[in-house]
Amino acid sequence: MIGRADAEHEPDPRPIGVFDSGVGGLTVLHECLVNLPHEDFIYLGDTGNFPYGPKGLAEVRALAFANAAFLVSHHVKLIVVACNSATAAALPQLQASFETPILGVVIPGARAAVQETRNRRVGLLASEATVSSASYQQAISTLDAGIEVRAVACPRLAPLIQEGDVFSEEVERAVREYTAPLKSFGCDTVILGCTHYPLVTPMLRRLLGPGVALINSAEETSLEITETLKRKGIANRRDREGGYTFFSTGEPESFRQVGARFLQLPIREVGHWVGGASSPISATRVGA
Ligand code: DGL
Repeated sequence: MIGRADAEHEPDPRPIGVFDSGVGGLTVLHECLVNLPHEDFIYLGDTGNFPYGPKGLAEVRALAFANAAFLVSHHVKLIVVACNSATAAALPQLQASFETPILGVVIPGARAAVQETRNRRVGLLASEATVSSASYQQAISTLDAGIEVRAVACPRLAPLIQEGDVFSEEVERAVREYTAPLKSFGCDTVILGCTHYPLVTPMLRRLLGPGVALINSAEETSLEITETLKRKGIANRRDREGGYTFFSTGEPESFRQVGARFLQLPIREVGHWVGGASSPISATRVGA
């Protein structure tokens, strides 16, 4: 790339805003905190409205708009829609409505799958909302129209993983059921199209077999964020340690406890925001 003449940018100290339907997007935040330790992050988990997957696309879109407006009110420099269902339902509309740049998780995951596949058969495991929006299918086809995609909606999986015991037999039964159509399809690449699924990676690997590459949208999205900050010239100074703060629309204490498992880092204070399309933007801080 040939850079702009003003390639030397002042550091941008504003935080990056991240939202999800609950705690799942913390797998995306985890990758961001590892790859961008010098940036500040504000994470909003809409646990009061979890899950988004079974909801209609219009309802998910309304919730996504409320979440983005909340983050904009916190003066973020970039918004990351760390939720496949919300990205699928609302990303273009959000981008067209807000001045703040907004990234989703679908394009980075789709691009990685297109780069990875050799037999040009890609499987997708995702929520009903994500599958019915056909966003992954469209993104893949834009990049390589010759790739065949088999999408499997997994309605039970995200709630089961969120409940806690990711190594239970019930989770294994669900993973076995949802991966079966992909095994018979014969794909060599599977997109984990829901932020919860990285937590069951070992089970997926075992049931899909060693010849199948798993695409973790969380990792791909954090690479996209890094590149975007650099190219837009809105990265913070690298010689500092950033902070991260949390808001939840559900009960803050349970967000803190369940969330730490997804983030794999401590979650201290969690603010509460009423959330939803018609609520005021102000939030209270509670928690440890
Ligand atoms: N974060 C959501 C997703 O990636 C989890 C599933 C849900 O809310 O139903 O689709």
